[in-house]
Amino acid sequence: MHPMLNIAVRAARSAGNLIARTIGQSENFEVAQKNKDDLVTSIDKQCEKMIAETLFKSYRDHCILTEESGVLGNPDSEYQWVIDPIDGTTNFVKGIGHCAISMALRHNGKTEVAVVFDPMMDEMFTAARGEGAFLNGRRIRVSSADSLDGSIIGTAFPTRHRDRMNAYLEIFTRLINNCADIRRMGSASLDLCYVACGRLDGYLEQGLKEWDFAAGELILREAGGLATDFLGEPNYVKSGNIVSGNPTMVRNLIKLCDPQSLDAILR
Ligand code: IPD
Ligand code: CA
Ligand code: CA
Repeated sequence: MHPMLNIAVRAARSAGNLIARTIGQSENFEVAQKNKDDLVTSIDKQCEKMIAETLFKSYRDHCILTEESGVLGNPDSEYQWVIDPIDGTTNFVKGIGHCAISMALRHNGKTEVAVVFDPMMDEMFTAARGEGAFLNGRRIRVSSADSLDGSIIGTAFPTRHRDRMNAYLEIFTRLINNCADIRRMGSASLDLCYVACGRLDGYLEQGLKEWDFAAGELILREAGGLATDFLGEPNYVKSGNIVSGNPTMVRNLIKLCDPQSLDAILR
């Protein structure tokens, strides 16, 4: 295993233990609202600290970008870790056992290794660039679905961009009328991993942050999948608007979003 992947797996496991021990027990941790409908807990911060300590012990000169603390370490390093200590904090607070630790390592801007760990399912998704994607050590691939008909699609409502809700709901209506069913599971990094291992045939969401998708995107790509923005371009890295699946499903999903709804989303 790539040595940096090894360290990331170790860090994810120790933070995962803490998540598994405390999930849903809000009497044992603090909950605060960062923004409207956007929670953070003392466990998010504790996980972040544990992960940063583990990484810095081996790689003192690296930079770490985390959701809750921003930039840590050497901001000029060629190596940057992008970390979401709990992706799915609302699920975590509510005791809904679907959340993950998401860690990606970029070298000169290119994602080299990725880990997404679901401590409740004990599922470790990993990838190293050019070496495939794995779930608990077994190789994974995207589904071979080639039509929306019969497909299961993951998504999320733009609750933090309410101005886009109506436009999104137009797409949602078109989606539910064309696929078998939809899932809104509450953890973007796991959504991407679920596409990577074929549990979902596609997934789309808007307004994600880089810690939500940095790791899941590499895992998806190494599993034969594709992520684009709503126009089929790679610009999702900046916009956080992401459409994913195998290449045919991405094409099908993009076709479904009509120009009028897109206008409002891309504004
Ligand atoms: C959120 C989750 C959720 C997605 C949101 C993210 P957080 O991350 O990934 O599924 O719909 O856009 O912000 O806040 O739980 O780390
Ligand atoms: Ca997140
Ligand atoms: Ca988070």
